[in-house]
Amino acid sequence: MPQLPIHRPRRNRKSQVIRDMVQETRLTAHDFIFPLFLIEGQNQHVEVKSMPGIFRFSTDRIIDEIGQCVELGINSFAPFPSINDGLKDRLARESANPDGLYLKTVADIKRQFPDVVLMTDVAMDPYSSDGHDGVVDAESGDILNDATLEVLGQMALAQARAGADIIGPSDMMDGRVAWIREVLDSNAFGHVSIMSYTAKYASAFYGPFRDALDSAPKKGDKKSYQMNPANRREALRELALDEQEGADMVMVKPALSYLDVIMDVKNHTNLPVTAYNVSGEYAMVKAAAQQGWLDGEKTMMEVLLSIKRAGADAILTYFAKEAAEVLRRG
Ligand code: PBG
Repeated sequence: MPQLPIHRPRRNRKSQVIRDMVQETRLTAHDFIFPLFLIEGQNQHVEVKSMPGIFRFSTDRIIDEIGQCVELGINSFAPFPSINDGLKDRLARESANPDGLYLKTVADIKRQFPDVVLMTDVAMDPYSSDGHDGVVDAESGDILNDATLEVLGQMALAQARAGADIIGPSDMMDGRVAWIREVLDSNAFGHVSIMSYTAKYASAFYGPFRDALDSAPKKGDKKSYQMNPANRREALRELALDEQEGADMVMVKPALSYLDVIMDVKNHTNLPVTAYNVSGEYAMVKAAAQQGWLDGEKTMMEVLLSIKRAGADAILTYFAKEAAEVLRRG
């Protein structure tokens, strides 16, 4: 007679109660940072075509949206502005305008919700007439690293003044974390944190985000600053630099095609690790769900769980509100 199995892992799966008892990873609304898109105007909420369920809100409407999210236990937000073309220029000057859409809204949100954490985005692309995250050399088309640092420092300082809790440099210029830290510290913003986009890849998954903000590069691509999707060890080099330069938290972006990178980064740092479940990852799930090809809700929860299981302590995700509603229902 063949040997019956001695080891039966299925015993630990035999009922819901036991499955719950041995469950290794659990999601809560506290895990989520919700990215928000801002537009000019009043009483505006315009759906992003390639991101069903995600809207660009005017300042007055974003306050309602945040109120609903706080009710669901989401307390952290990452706003991004959609800037009118007329305000864009080569040096992204609008990014430091305290009366512009972005900084005014940040200040407004903090006034209404002092306990909410706002992570503001530092990169030139929403304000750049070139659609790049850095200053473009007019002749060569090169992205000028050190000229960009000046702009990023001013942008970060203006955001700190508006009330940002965490500065999120998403530009991938060399040395920007140290540069921003120095600017903040020398202006009495030592309490403002930096969450570095440590390993940000040159990814096709950012497409819908660039639609939302109309921020796609006018010429060329972002491969001279964002990382090559083929590289994993390079993420650890960026991690070591961000740690030395004083980052408080580190991020891997995108998340789903980079779970190995999340795990590697987690295993090499004692800093909190976050992951950005980006626009294209959201769009894929939504598109398949709309076709009836996937169960959207179950897929969403599995996606988020897998990112946390890989090692993310917090997740930037467009699913935040919907997932928090599912968690609330239990
Ligand atoms: C740019 C920026 C991008 C995203 C966040 N900040 C796009 C890009 O690098 O082109 C993408 C986020 C997403 O796709 O959800 N500084």
